[in-house]
Amino acid sequence: MPTRLDEAALKQLFLDARTLRAWQQRDVPDGVLREVVDLMKMGPTANNSLPARVVFVKSLAAKERLKPHLSPGNVDKTMTAPVTAIVGFDLGFYEHRPAGETPLKGFDDKPDQAQVVAFRNGTLGGAYLMLAARALGLDCGPMSGFDNAGVDREFFAGTKTKSNFICNLGYGDPTGLRPRGGRFTFDEMAKIV
Ligand SMILES: Cc1cc2nc3c(=O)[nH]c(=O)nc-3n(C[C@H](O)[C@H](O)[C@H](O)COP(=O)(O)O)c2cc1C
Repeated sequence: MPTRLDEAALKQLFLDARTLRAWQQRDVPDGVLREVVDLMKMGPTANNSLPARVVFVKSLAAKERLKPHLSPGNVDKTMTAPVTAIVGFDLGFYEHRPAGETPLKGFDDKPDQAQVVAFRNGTLGGAYLMLAARALGLDCGPMSGFDNAGVDREFFAGTKTKSNFICNLGYGDPTGLRPRGGRFTFDEMAKIV
């Protein structure tokens, strides 16, 4: 039976969690990245479609392949981050199923529908990735300032996967923090009917 998380957990996941743009030079072990995926994949997706795909760019050689596709303002923060996750969505999600699962029907001749499902649920996967990372004590720095087509050519050639956003991961250096941006009140963004 779920119980309410304590205040420290809420702070770590949401209330005190910030978008980081500077990083401690502290390694993120591959095992932690595997844990991130093991958590994110448990989040719900439509029909358990699981379209999110992730490339963890960690080696210097791989970072150099990513670098030319970054917006100028995102280069330093990405090149100094221990890891950059490329979060993508697989347009062939309906045929690439986990072991024991059958292909999802109804998408073969409906690429527009497949695109909607892949993008929506792949984006959810990216959100689960960030919360999983935070739950494991990592900081996140999501970015859409990059050339998607270039990243797709470099990292997803020969596949049906397209990049969505990228996200630096690591242990943040808070000295680089910008002031926290405003948030809506409940009434400005929600209602209970
Ligand atoms: C999908 C997405 C794209 C973003 N793109 C960039 C980016 O290209 N460069 C950047 O410095 N920050 C980028 N951000 C960071 C946001 O500006 C930041 O998360 C937001 O202002 C909230 O900041 P906070 O988490 O510190 O409250 C992006 C965030 C998201 C979720």
